[in-house]
Amino acid sequence: MGTSLGTVVITGAAGRVGSAVRVGLRGEAERLVLVDRVGLAAQSPAEEVRQFDLRDAEAVTAALEGADAVVHLGGVPDEAPLPDLLDGNVRGTHNVLESARRQGVGRVVLASSNRLTGFYPVSENVTPEMPPRPDGLYGVSKVAVEALGRLYADKFGLSVVCLRIGSFEDAPTERRHLATWLSPRDCLGFVHAALTAPGIRFTTVYGVSANTRRFWDIEAGSALGYTPVDDAEVFASRIPPEGNWADSSDLQGGAYANAEYTLRHI
Ligand SMILES: NC(=O)c1ccc[n+]([C@@H]2O[C@H](COP(=O)([O-])OP(=O)(O)OC[C@H]3O[C@@H](n4cnc5c(N)ncnc54)[C@H](O)[C@@H]3O)[C@@H](O)[C@H]2O)c1
Repeated sequence: MGTSLGTVVITGAAGRVGSAVRVGLRGEAERLVLVDRVGLAAQSPAEEVRQFDLRDAEAVTAALEGADAVVHLGGVPDEAPLPDLLDGNVRGTHNVLESARRQGVGRVVLASSNRLTGFYPVSENVTPEMPPRPDGLYGVSKVAVEALGRLYADKFGLSVVCLRIGSFEDAPTERRHLATWLSPRDCLGFVHAALTAPGIRFTTVYGVSANTRRFWDIEAGSALGYTPVDDAEVFASRIPPEGNWADSSDLQGGAYANAEYTLRHI
């Protein structure tokens, strides 16, 4: 691996996915700018830490100075009151895209979510071209995240990849994960492809492992340059037959699609 990625900014670098991406891009990026509202310590001379809230547009623009790419992971990662989602996910993403436009950043990778289509039945194979059917307000915020990406690509010529992340876990722990698991290895594969695929104006891909029971398309990811290798099925015998997944409807969002899951935030 060389240092061909240049300067990469990771927002939400202290989070679950961000920590893995940080380690995965080490050695490939000349400089890693790690952004989070919680404190982080640089672990190598190539790392630079910036602590601020993504709502601070000026701070975002300063952090993106000289960046070749941004992996935007910072935000609210689950159901929450709408004002929090608008602030953290919609405003935060707008600040990142607008800063990327001003700073001439070559590629923006946006963390989207499978929950944007959680109301499709498990019997359906969902592709990125199908209309959103969010399973909650969080999913709605990710519809806006993707729409902002599309706007900045169409209107201002930014190169944007939306990655609809599945269930990022070291290993599946519940029934639903047998379909939705995204292994750390496959996550890094998708992020790497999203950063390096040539000639992209705008694309959306599902970031899901090659799970036998998956209900999301992986063709778009292959077109981007990454075909996942892990399969949750090898963990199937270790997962209890009952649980969130079995208790809920036959919707892809599982328990996330239950009315109560959203009502407690309204
Ligand atoms: N983990 C998953 O399985 C999964 C699935 C689908 C989508 N995603 C998306 O991937 C991204 C990362 O998810 P995660 O699981 O690592 O979440 P996480 O909560 O572990 O990490 C998010 C990070 O963003 C930071 N952050 C949040 N709001 C911020 C703000 N306003 N300003 C600055 N920093 C802020 C937090 O401090 C945290 O370190 C999110 O956008 C999430 O919606 C994750």
